[in-house]
Amino acid sequence: MKKADIGVIGMEVMGKSLALNMESKGYTVAVYNRTGQKTKDFADGPAKGKNIIPTYEIKDFVNALESPKKIMMMVKEGAPVDGFIEMLLPFLKKGDLIIDGGNSFFKDTIRRNKNLSEKGIFFIGTGVSGGEEGALKGPAIMPGGQKEAYQLVEKIFRDISAKAYDGEPCVDYIGPDGAGHFVKTIHNGIEYGDMQLIGEVVWFFKNTGMKADRIADIMARWNGKDDILRSYLIEITADSMKQKHAGSDEFLVDRVADITRMKGTGTWTVQSALELLVPIPTIAAAVFSREMSQDKDLRLAMSKNFSFSSGKFGGNPEEMIDVAHDALYIAKISSYAQGIALLTAASSVYNFNLNIGRIAKIWRAGCIIRAQFLDEITRAYEANPNLPNLLASPKFAGFVSANIGKLARFIEVAHQCGVPALAMSSAFDYILQITSAVMPSAQVSALQRDYFGAHGYFKINSGSPELMVNSEGKVREFHTEWLVPGRPEKEITK
Ligand code: 6PG
Repeated sequence: MKKADIGVIGMEVMGKSLALNMESKGYTVAVYNRTGQKTKDFADGPAKGKNIIPTYEIKDFVNALESPKKIMMMVKEGAPVDGFIEMLLPFLKKGDLIIDGGNSFFKDTIRRNKNLSEKGIFFIGTGVSGGEEGALKGPAIMPGGQKEAYQLVEKIFRDISAKAYDGEPCVDYIGPDGAGHFVKTIHNGIEYGDMQLIGEVVWFFKNTGMKADRIADIMARWNGKDDILRSYLIEITADSMKQKHAGSDEFLVDRVADITRMKGTGTWTVQSALELLVPIPTIAAAVFSREMSQDKDLRLAMSKNFSFSSGKFGGNPEEMIDVAHDALYIAKISSYAQGIALLTAASSVYNFNLNIGRIAKIWRAGCIIRAQFLDEITRAYEANPNLPNLLASPKFAGFVSANIGKLARFIEVAHQCGVPALAMSSAFDYILQITSAVMPSAQVSALQRDYFGAHGYFKINSGSPELMVNSEGKVREFHTEWLVPGRPEKEITK
């Protein structure tokens, strides 16, 4: 019997769909699942008559593979990944390759890559985005690990991946060890931001008195061919908002509870940002909003004591459509600027050597954040690979400068109506902060720290926002002896 080109472990939806996708592109695929019944159901069902080899012992699974053996795990992140690696190891030889296609924590991937490398086994940690349909018909794939390891599966990955409108496969070598999983994590953080921003706009429209089908129409228009907001998430918002509740005339969206759960990648994104000192307030706002959404009992109780949450919009809702459109676009640019800033920082700290333009290209199709506007990001980074921030790209800077008033207006009206807009507000304030030569109260809080803790402060030159430096260009640091009469100021020299 012909040996399999690749093996897939894990027969949940993602594993099954990927195996079918690979088979449909001409590959023979061996499959294995911890519980044999799932493998059998798959073999007797969707895999029947296809070049898919079901196996029920890990030894048989590995033996069914062509050498060097390529094994893709689609299992839950954490202990199951380590468990399968342990199970596989006795049957693998130098040069074989294990791929983890789940949403693993990138530091786990760095550790696994290192441990397996010492044994001569290649390890790739890859992001696979696009859900069940993507896995089956073409996901976006973000592989990180040894370059030689990637070359072993490059053709398979290119064949099974989504193709952008220009035919380019949505996969590329991302970088060493944990780079692929890191990029997938930030993709998910950005996904959280996008979802929260859209959610706030939809909730705003609803509070102006619009019905769900009207909002769905607006979203469908925003997903139009040449619209700057055109994206998968806007598309599915339009589609899902029209859905009626089973057996009634109500819209499903009006009956779905305001509770959003999460599995962890958004939180990891924020944790990384805290660790790397990169502000990502909009993505954090999205995670915090999901947390607040889960506190339903508390919100129900609190809502009884406060009435400002039920304010009504007094104007013409239709006038707000264009305002909200451009406000959402600016907030999206702000949120992506934050996510990309985090990628850039991690790239240098972890030596991932990330190419932002190419990452944006991979995200153009297949994945959840796929959008027209990613092309614009690619162009911005192709024009200047060292762009200090996405907002510095002339095209985005131009749009933001010309239209930032619409984001301000959206937030103002939302707040007047008692509509929370944590992500939209943070996106606005991020832009204000990053474009401020002097941030409000920076000097005051610096003085407070020096006052109570002798922590020192820097100075700016008189009448200028520039830092005061010495003749060697080094920033000068000072401390005031606040409790000593006359409050003498000293220069701190280290
Ligand atoms: C994707 C998705 C996928 C999954 C998220 C959902 O890229 O295909 O991001 O990875 O749907 O993990 O995450 P939450 O459960 O945390 O919303």
